[in-house]
Amino acid sequence: MISRFFLLFVVFAAGLQVAPGDTNPQDAAALRSLMTQWQNTPPSWGTNDPCSTPWEGISCSNSRVTILTLNSMGIKGTLSSDISQLTQLQSLDLSLNSKLGGPVPPSIGNLKQLTTLILAGCSFTGNIPQELGNLENLYFLALNSNNFTGRIPASLGQLSNLYWFDLGDNQLTGVIPVSSNTSPGLDLLVNTKHFHFNKNQLSGSIPESLFSSKMTLMHLLFDSNQFTGQIPESIGLVTSLEVLRLDRNSLGGTVPSNLTNLVKLNELSLANNQLIGPIPDLTGMSVLNYVDLSNNSFDANQAPNWFSTLESLTTLVLESGGLNGNIPTQMFSFPQIQQVLLSNNAFNGTLDLGKTSSGLQLVDFKNNAISGFKSSPGYNENLILYGNPVCTTQLLNSIYCSLQQELQQPYSTGLGQCNSTSCPFDQSVNPQSCNCAYPYEGLLIFRAPFFRDLSNSSRFQELESNLWTQLKLAPHSVSLLNPFFNSDNYLQVELKLFPPSGMYFTRLDVLKIGFALSNQTLDIPSIFGPYSFIGSPYPFPSGSNSGGSSMSTGVIAGIAIGCVILLVVLVIVGIYAFRQKKRAQRAVEQNKPFASWISKGKESDGAPQLKGARLFSYDELRKSTNNFAETNEIGCGGYGKVYKGFLSSGELVAIKRAQQGSMQGGHEFKTEIELLSRVHHKNLVGLVGFCFEQGEQMLVYEYIPNGTLRESLIGKDGIQLDWPRRLKVALGSARGLAYLHELANPPIIHRDVKSTNILLDENLIAKVADFGLSKLVSDSQKGHISTQVKGTLGYLDPEYYMTQQLTEKSDVYSFGVVMLELIMAKQPIEKGKYIVREVRMALNDKDEEYYGLREMMDPALRSTANLIGFRRFVELAMLCVEESASQRPTMNELVKEFETMLHNAGLNSNSNSTPSSATDFGNTNNAHHPYNEPLPRKDFHSDSFEYTGGFQFASKIEPK
Ligand SMILES: *[C@@H]1O[C@H](CO)[C@@H](O)[C@H](O)[C@H]1NC(C)=O
Ligand SMILES: *[C@@H]1O[C@H](CO)[C@@H](O)[C@H](O)[C@H]1NC(C)=O
Ligand SMILES: *[C@@H]1O[C@H](CO)[C@@H](O)[C@H](O)[C@H]1NC(C)=O
Ligand SMILES: *[C@@H]1O[C@H](CO)[C@@H](O)[C@H](O)[C@H]1NC(C)=O
Repeated sequence: MISRFFLLFVVFAAGLQVAPGDTNPQDAAALRSLMTQWQNTPPSWGTNDPCSTPWEGISCSNSRVTILTLNSMGIKGTLSSDISQLTQLQSLDLSLNSKLGGPVPPSIGNLKQLTTLILAGCSFTGNIPQELGNLENLYFLALNSNNFTGRIPASLGQLSNLYWFDLGDNQLTGVIPVSSNTSPGLDLLVNTKHFHFNKNQLSGSIPESLFSSKMTLMHLLFDSNQFTGQIPESIGLVTSLEVLRLDRNSLGGTVPSNLTNLVKLNELSLANNQLIGPIPDLTGMSVLNYVDLSNNSFDANQAPNWFSTLESLTTLVLESGGLNGNIPTQMFSFPQIQQVLLSNNAFNGTLDLGKTSSGLQLVDFKNNAISGFKSSPGYNENLILYGNPVCTTQLLNSIYCSLQQELQQPYSTGLGQCNSTSCPFDQSVNPQSCNCAYPYEGLLIFRAPFFRDLSNSSRFQELESNLWTQLKLAPHSVSLLNPFFNSDNYLQVELKLFPPSGMYFTRLDVLKIGFALSNQTLDIPSIFGPYSFIGSPYPFPSGSNSGGSSMSTGVIAGIAIGCVILLVVLVIVGIYAFRQKKRAQRAVEQNKPFASWISKGKESDGAPQLKGARLFSYDELRKSTNNFAETNEIGCGGYGKVYKGFLSSGELVAIKRAQQGSMQGGHEFKTEIELLSRVHHKNLVGLVGFCFEQGEQMLVYEYIPNGTLRESLIGKDGIQLDWPRRLKVALGSARGLAYLHELANPPIIHRDVKSTNILLDENLIAKVADFGLSKLVSDSQKGHISTQVKGTLGYLDPEYYMTQQLTEKSDVYSFGVVMLELIMAKQPIEKGKYIVREVRMALNDKDEEYYGLREMMDPALRSTANLIGFRRFVELAMLCVEESASQRPTMNELVKEFETMLHNAGLNSNSNSTPSSATDFGNTNNAHHPYNEPLPRKDFHSDSFEYTGGFQFASKIEPK
């Protein structure tokens, strides 16, 4: 079946090169009509006869248009009903044009020759026209990732040749239509291999009559809908099934035993339903790789026998499954096993990992009742036993009892010897040539991979080589980046493909690649399962948009024929030129997002005031930091380094310079600056300006002289933080974060709240730093931003870590850790001990004064006579680090609590009135930034080591 399609692909590719003569007038008129509804068509469009020197994306046979492919072109507009005039059309691919939308005209049902219809990744709305059911030759139908609403038309059951049927990721509602005496239904689709109806709002029960032994389905994706009722027994008749995803619905009842007839199944997910009765018996399903039965209401019982017999498993997930008794040991030694996730069950007794398989990477038994542990000498990977009795006894303080374990890095294509190349922000390094180029980019979404381990490079490298071979690219000119499982449990991978030569792909290349990626002709390793691709419009060079030369012959002809025609032509040329100019402007706008800001300012002074944020030139910032000298470095992090800079005006600033890999697209950067420059709050470090030039992205912040909270807590530079000052620091930073969460528009989640990101100014007023840089919450994403987990070990919200669902409450968790630091003056993880656990274990209600923390707390506080609000403070901190985000308070609630505490302590909570007698706090007015020019550590002098002058780290000094 695939080969038939590949043939069409080859024919299509060849067809683009031939010139089969003048176009049938009806087709030519239809194309021109389509064009009037579209922006950003390729430059060849509208110039000549569509078939003779074919317009890009068109292929003809005997003067008739047979193929129309305009994927990934950035087409904007709607689909005209004149598409129906192209009556010989066999293949229509308008996919991956996110601005192409509106309804699909019912007249599309007239295209009787159509075998391939791909409209994936656009923004089509309205109903799926029932007239599609008339396309009896249709073989490939992909309407996924649009905004279709309404029901699945029963008429689609007439598509007896359909092979691929993808409606995923829309907003379809209603029941699945099945046939009756009077109406067709999807049960008639006995030649279809793929039902991808995932991520819709389909409801009702899955009809028993949908399935029969005549069906030949391989992939059935019904996940993330609203199906109710029982799983139909008849599903056991479709023995060709390889992937069955019914997860994330509201299915109930018991799982039919007929399911075990599906002996070809590689992946089975029934997770997140309301299934009851015994856990299904999967014995005999001998090729099962991936099983997920989590979060149902199965009867409490011991681990089923198949836990010990399904040797093909890579992944076993049964969280909240009511399992109890002893843990079988065999599964840890299955030859392909990678992850065993059995948290929130009631397993008891001793966990014995036995002889583990070499590929085993993660074992999660969080929140069970395990009381003993027998380690496996061969196992050094992640094991999560948090929330088991064994953590209070045998494994007390073990890393296995911490939620803060670091998983192995997921694979990303390495840059090898190109790792020192840096490119302008909108280009990327081609790992094949080390040149900078404009890649064709998008997201590969694998909807049911048969594996779970993302650190294994060989399977991703195999995918890379399959891609470059089949797409006819140079070896190694493919990058796969940042794979992760998103909240739908799909594996999402960023894909970049690089042109064989030069900086750009041609339009024809892009059309071919986009078509190959969306029509599923690529032969990718089967363990990746079914995939879809969501590409970005390709950034063609603005120059390639001018279709001038062929136009001018038309003009000359027009002059020769006469004035009237000349006039007409001139008008046309005028309109055309106007549109080209508009397009060129748009293109310039896209490449230089700040162009409009610059032209509004006075170019001569180089730093015009722009919406509150100043635009700095690269040279100016380079000079201000002494050529980004090491001595000016005051910090660094994942995004790059921070430098101290002296502007020519004498102003002192902190300059955050993004490194390669941390940069964002120009428009995102601009959006972010527009937002950050509107964020003004006395407890947030203010943005002074930015630089966006020569492939650099820099943010310029006000300079905060007293360094970080962490440093103050360890007493650096003689700063003493007594209890009331600590309360004020808590209040100030809480106010800053509350502002980001509730008053910034759109809201901002900080994502990296920690004591080194809270700075203290000359009056010891807390200022939260390092917000911004891709941390905006847009409404559509709110509540389920699921990108790679970012943050700092020790502060990371465990719920976010486990689910990748980012909310404001993740900041609250991190803030809770900072509150504990304010009490302990310790780092969150010290000598392998996690502050949250330590405090939780030490808490003692009976101790009125110190709440059981006297031994652990900062000795500097212990001597304070009256710690007003101390107990409440600890309670609040513990609420913030509750495992479940919903139980944590909001930042605003914390602000109110702190205000009350300060009020009760007789202190003004309004930090504006903090005394200016800064000398109280030691040498706070000197210009030494604590992380600039580090001072010799005092303890060197008191030791017997010889201090050799200059700054040295303790480790370099040898004891005599
Ligand atoms: C689909 O509709 C939703 C609102 O119903 C909107 O937020 C989203 O952007 C739309 N998506 C597309 C691709 O048009
Ligand atoms: C499913 O299995 C049950 C019990 O084995 C049997 O009675 C029933 O007929 C089967 N249903 C189908 C549709 O095969
Ligand atoms: C483990 O749980 C089972 C079932 O709940 C119980 O019968 C058994 O006594 C428990 N064993 C231990 C060692 O606690
Ligand atoms: C580049 O890679 C080489 C080894 O391949 C490594 O030694 C070097 O440190 C890397 N350079 C950078 C800037 O990462």
